[in-house]
Amino acid sequence: MKLQPVSHLRGEVTVPGDKSISHRSVMFGSIAKGTTEIHNFLKGADCLSTISCFRHMGIEIETGDTAVTVHGKGLRGLKAPDCILDCGNSGTTTRLISGILAPQNFDVTLTGDESIQKRPMGRIIEPLSMMGAQIESIRKNNCAPLKICGKPLAGIHYTSKVASAQVKSAILLAGLYADGETRVTEPQLSRNHTELMLRFFGADVRTENTTAIISPAQELYGNKIQVPGDISSAVYFVAAGLLLPNSEILIKNVGINPTRAGLLTVCKNMGANITLLNETRDSSEPTADLLVRSSSLKGTVIEGAVIPAMIDELPTVALMACFAEGTTVIKDASELKVKESNRIAIMAENLKAMGADVTETEDGMIIRGGRPLHGAVIDSHKDHRIAMTFAVAALAAEGETEILDADCVNISYPAFYEDLGRLCR
Ligand code: S3P
Repeated sequence: MKLQPVSHLRGEVTVPGDKSISHRSVMFGSIAKGTTEIHNFLKGADCLSTISCFRHMGIEIETGDTAVTVHGKGLRGLKAPDCILDCGNSGTTTRLISGILAPQNFDVTLTGDESIQKRPMGRIIEPLSMMGAQIESIRKNNCAPLKICGKPLAGIHYTSKVASAQVKSAILLAGLYADGETRVTEPQLSRNHTELMLRFFGADVRTENTTAIISPAQELYGNKIQVPGDISSAVYFVAAGLLLPNSEILIKNVGINPTRAGLLTVCKNMGANITLLNETRDSSEPTADLLVRSSSLKGTVIEGAVIPAMIDELPTVALMACFAEGTTVIKDASELKVKESNRIAIMAENLKAMGADVTETEDGMIIRGGRPLHGAVIDSHKDHRIAMTFAVAALAAEGETEILDADCVNISYPAFYEDLGRLCR
């Protein structure tokens, strides 16, 4: 895809439903009793992979125009699939589903695309095995394909080395079926959508500082879910509105759960002009409209507890830092290396190709802002967040930019280019 710079952006955009919450609503709805009606579900490829996996395990899921309806069969209602479950490009599907499958009374094999087969699964194999699970990495490399043989599980107290909601969620889901209480302590708090939604479905889950605690459940009960807009999709419009002069964008109905909204804190530290309007709450999740206006940004240090609260937004914030006055340091973010691509290396490579002054570090990047960016050929490495970040970069750069494999945005935001294009008119 080829993109040209624009002078400004104006208008209103409604970003699609949150990816993390959409996945969870289908998964938890499938193992709950009764019907779960999901509004504003994200029909991106990742969440469709989750739907497909549960359909293969006997769950009826209707994907209508306005809602997705999951006819849950209760905690023990899944049946053995008659094929290998394909998680596509989705780490959330692979890791969370492993926590649900480990305690079933059947065996399953899980796999996914080329990227998923390289992503670390040892981080879930280790704790689930401590609970009594039998999970084998078929190629013995701690990656998918995984063979999971259902076993009875026991509760544990696991201290995780990484702040990862996928790891925490896999353990909590296994804990629903375990004998005794399960606790997960993280170095910093990761997104808590699992805890909020499981409680909404009737589970006994609580949080003490960075420890999530779950008791075994008899049953979960289906519920109505209103999925908030995804802040990880909103970030592209936040960046575009801030970076382009004379711009004003209203981003409607964005999820601002504090365990996800580190972006807003960092934007404030950078001097961004963002106003929160119409703050409300949908199915236990806080939301707001974000009014974004062109701003002169300044460099900042991004580190520590805020990192897990904005992990998927960091590539776009790195782009923003190129336009800021002074230096921005991103550290404590080595998790970026094990996402859909190595997002530290690929951001640095592509930003440099556009003329930015960026140094890649072990756990982040150092960006010296203020150099104008010029168009370039950008290899997205089929990573949706890289493609969308550089579509925004292209609008703010001089000359033409070409993004390779630009259609990978289908993973999380199929209408991204249309929505961005509407603001350019
Ligand atoms: C997610 C958690 C994060 C995030 C991913 C979605 C989730 O991953 O990067 O896009 O839905 O739980 P980690 O748990 O690996 O940090």
